[in-house]
Amino acid sequence: MKQQNFFQNIDLIKSNESDPQVINLFSLEEIKDILKFYNDLPLSTFNEKQKIKKKHWILGLNRKMDDFIISKINKVISNWKVDNMYSKEEAFGIFHESFNPIKLHVDTGKDKNKIIYKQILIPLTDTGDTILFEPRWYGPSSTFTIEKDELRKNTGYNLRTNDHIGKLDFDKKFYKKYLNHENYNNLKGLKVKKIYEWKLGEALIFDRTFIHCASDLKKPKTGLTIFFYREKN
Ligand SMILES: [Fe+2]
Repeated sequence: MKQQNFFQNIDLIKSNESDPQVINLFSLEEIKDILKFYNDLPLSTFNEKQKIKKKHWILGLNRKMDDFIISKINKVISNWKVDNMYSKEEAFGIFHESFNPIKLHVDTGKDKNKIIYKQILIPLTDTGDTILFEPRWYGPSSTFTIEKDELRKNTGYNLRTNDHIGKLDFDKKFYKKYLNHENYNNLKGLKVKKIYEWKLGEALIFDRTFIHCASDLKKPKTGLTIFFYREKN
């Protein structure tokens, strides 16, 4: 894995790592408030091919909602800074509405000096799963593929790479049950760390070094993801 030595402070990143965690964080009323806020936000991207809509939680549009989400984050994560990777404006995470399952990727960012930390996924619909894999990835934000064409073109924010591929065959039973949208050989060397079934009111907190994707369930899903980093001290 050539990409594994991307980060300057890899030991610090590793020292903050932990197992993924599911917590009850919101009431159903609060989820409704977030969805209402989401609906009023301007659309950021609509990718016709991937069938995904994205909106940023732009700070300052609704101070009450800003304070609300910040207080929730403070309850479950400490010493955080928001890593605003995808927006030019000051934003607090990204809403994603997808109609096709999101494929194998990692959200480590592209700043090698950052001490990347946790990301939190807040389901806003109760359909679908997020699957986390090991080994962890210490390279830049990537979409993992073995398709020659995609690797050659390498367009978009994420690097396109096959550098995640390892030696052991992936669990075939699990593949057939959850991951038919992926190429089986694209999972070679990976092991499932966790399968998280989306549930309203919950949040999934996991290290940004986990490679992840959605299960193959083809239903519309909306979620909010916020990415964090840490300062050195
Ligand atoms: Fe992601």
